Amino acid sequence: MEPVKVGLLGLGTVGGGTVNVLQRNGDEICRRAGRPIRVTRAATRTLDKQRICETAGIELTDDPWKVVDDPEIRIVCELIGGTEIARELVLRAIGNGKHVVTANKALIAIHGNEVFEAAQQQGVTVAFEAAVAGGIPIIKAIREGLAGNRIEWLAGIINGTGNFILTEMRDKGRGFGEVLAEAQELGYAEADPAFDIDGTDAAHKLTILASIAFGIPLQFDRVYREGIDRITIEDVRYAEQLGYRIKHLGIARRAEQGIELRVHPTLIPERRLIANVDGVMNAVLVRADAVGPTLYYGPGAGADPTASAVVADLVDVTRALTSDPENRVPHLAFQPGALADLPILEMPEVETAYYLRMSAEDRPGVLAEVTRIFGDLGISIEAIRQQEPAGEERYVPIIFLTHRVVEARMNEAIGRIEALPSISGRVTRIRMETLS
Ligand code: HSE
Repeated sequence: MEPVKVGLLGLGTVGGGTVNVLQRNGDEICRRAGRPIRVTRAATRTLDKQRICETAGIELTDDPWKVVDDPEIRIVCELIGGTEIARELVLRAIGNGKHVVTANKALIAIHGNEVFEAAQQQGVTVAFEAAVAGGIPIIKAIREGLAGNRIEWLAGIINGTGNFILTEMRDKGRGFGEVLAEAQELGYAEADPAFDIDGTDAAHKLTILASIAFGIPLQFDRVYREGIDRITIEDVRYAEQLGYRIKHLGIARRAEQGIELRVHPTLIPERRLIANVDGVMNAVLVRADAVGPTLYYGPGAGADPTASAVVADLVDVTRALTSDPENRVPHLAFQPGALADLPILEMPEVETAYYLRMSAEDRPGVLAEVTRIFGDLGISIEAIRQQEPAGEERYVPIIFLTHRVVEARMNEAIGRIEALPSISGRVTRIRMETLS
């Protein structure tokens, strides 16, 4: 049968990996898709450079418009990242009646509503399995595998670079900058690695997961985000002493008053499977009413794992080429006209438990002052632990674990604690989830 012709935008880590997987597993892929899938053209910024893949038989160009306007190409694979040029190229490809496969989480999180509407009008598909959690088929699992469920919440380690950095810091005591440089060399990090560190990349992915889990429009700007940059090795150690691990999680929860969308460092009990997901691995825990909890685990970044997801999408799109657009799996899992306008909660409205670390004067009565503030505000304490003084003898680190409380009330408590003369500096706050 005639091969399906694919045009690649980008021939870097993911593009090169995609070419490799298509070449290496061509026969298997053809048996699954029903016809060969062949990359015929690829756009790349630099034409003559060393690559991770063989490009014989692929026409290389430095003009991406030649790919999206090539009448022979049925599927455009957007692997350049970024949101501006990528958006224009994808919309042009759709306008030209081509299907699109993309690994671009920023594009989907920020412009997805527009892109999907354009695709729907043209009767083409935009597939984005590789945009979330690298090689884990999490989009397919939630969108199709859990289609019978009402999803209650999901929580995921969805940035491989960040998890790699946290793991290396914890296990080997390595410095932040050194591990980040290694993640960049390994092709895990974003073009702008600040996105991995400050929680933006995880927020892009959470936006997508929440949409397909709850059937809501993509709302990246409503995601609360904190990164891993303020996690200290002391907090990692103190958390461990209390039986917890600190992980950077993306959490989407259906609460009574609305939807929680947040990414931030989180203490989780070390006995949870997800607490033991280390290195570049990602994991997404989904709680749904019929099936209960399910956990999806795998490599969250890297050339071949991401290519695995891209190629799976290419196979899916190829199989659907002759199908009626009305009967394809909807982009956001729910029919486009059936998306719900659920309110997204502001962070002060969110309820969670807390780890608090403060530097307190080492004298009688100080703990009582702090616990009185908690008592007055109705905040229940789960554990208190005094640590060895870290140098400055007059002050000692005190750790509190609290039960669940609305964040606005915790903000009030922290403000009052920081105003106590017996407390030095700011209170460190890390949110805590049992994920049970
Ligand atoms: N920079 C991303 C990560 C790549 O580290 O998870 C995969 O999306």
